[in-house]
Amino acid sequence: MDTSPSTPTSTPTTKPASEVTRTSEQGNGEPIAVAMWGTGGQARVVEEFLGAVGCELVVVCDHDPHATWESETGGTNRICHGWSGFEAFLPTFASESGGRTLYGIVAVGGHDGSDRLRIQARMETLGVRPIAVVHPSAYVASNAMIGPGSQVMAQSAVCALAKVGRGCLINTGSSVDHHCELGDGVHVAPGARLAGGVRVGEHTMVGMGAMVLPRIKIGNQVVIGAGAVVTHDVPDGKVVYGNPARVVKDVSRLSDVHVRGIGPVEPVSPAQGGGAKFLVEGKYDIGPATEE
Ligand SMILES: CC(C)(COP(=O)(O)OP(=O)(O)OC[C@H]1O[C@@H](n2cnc3c(N)ncnc32)[C@H](O)[C@@H]1OP(=O)(O)O)[C@@H](O)C(=O)NCCC(=O)NCCS
Repeated sequence: MDTSPSTPTSTPTTKPASEVTRTSEQGNGEPIAVAMWGTGGQARVVEEFLGAVGCELVVVCDHDPHATWESETGGTNRICHGWSGFEAFLPTFASESGGRTLYGIVAVGGHDGSDRLRIQARMETLGVRPIAVVHPSAYVASNAMIGPGSQVMAQSAVCALAKVGRGCLINTGSSVDHHCELGDGVHVAPGARLAGGVRVGEHTMVGMGAMVLPRIKIGNQVVIGAGAVVTHDVPDGKVVYGNPARVVKDVSRLSDVHVRGIGPVEPVSPAQGGGAKFLVEGKYDIGPATEE
C-alpha cells in the first residue's frame, strides 16, 4: 500500500482554511486546468468552488447527448458529449493550452460509486489525471489521506488518521471521524456521520443523515438508507435502513434510490485545521466486512 502524498503539506501548526492546500495538485501560479464529467447537481456543487481551490474548469462532459451546460460562475460553457466528444476535445485542448496538463474530476453522485470510478479510470487511460479537491470550508486533518479523484464538500470533516479511497464523495456537512477507512467510490451523503474506526467497502453509499456507530464494518456495494442508525456490521451488497438499521433487501433489487427523510444534520465548524494529504497512487485494502 502506497500512502505517499503528492504534496507533503502536513504541518504541525493550525492554519486558517484559506492557507491550506485544497487540491491534490499544485498550480505553480496558474490555475489547474480541469475537465469535469457530469452536468447534474454534484457538478454544480463542484463547479461553485473549483476556482476557490486554484482550478479552472475548461470543459464539461456528459454521456447524455442532450445534456447542456451554462456556467454559473462565469467560466466555460464548453461541453462535449460521450467519449467520442471528449476524445475529440483533447487535441483541441492540447493545441489551445500551450501544453498545460489536463486534470479530471468526475462529479457524478448517486449510490453506485463504480460509475464514477469507471469514468475516472477511462479518463486516466486518455492521459487525464484525476484531481482530488477539498472545499475551503471543509476540515481535513493533517494526517488524514484523500484518494485521487475524491471530493470533500462544504462543511464536512475528515478527521485524524482517516483514509478516503479514490473517487469518493464526502458530501456537504458529513463527517468521517478518526481512523475511518473508506474504500474506492464511497459516497458519504450530506449530513451522514461515521464515528471513529468505521470501515466502508467499495462503491457503498451512506445515505443522508445516517449515523454509523464506532468501529462498524460496512461491506462493498452497500446502500444505507437516509436517517439510518447503523449498529451492526453490514455484509456486501445489502440495503439497510431504520433505527436500528436492518437489512431490507439486496442492492440488486433496488429499482431506484429515492431521497427519503433526512436525519439530524448539524454542520461542522468552519475549517481551522491543517493541510490535506492526498494519496496519489495505490489503493486501500480495507478487507472484507464481517457477516452478520
Ligand atoms: C433506503 C433506500 C435506498 C430505499 O430505496 P427503495 O428500496 O427504492 O425504497 P422505496 O421507496 O421502495 O420504499 C420502500 C419502503 O421503505 C421505506 N423507506 C425507504 N427508505 C427509508 C429510509 N431511509 N428509512 C426508513 N424507511 C424507508 C418507505 O417508506 C417504504 O415503506 P412503505 O412500503 O411502508 O411505504 C432509499 O429510500 C434511501 O434512503 N436512499 C438514500 C438517498 C440518499 O441519501 N441519497 C443521497 C443524495 S446526495
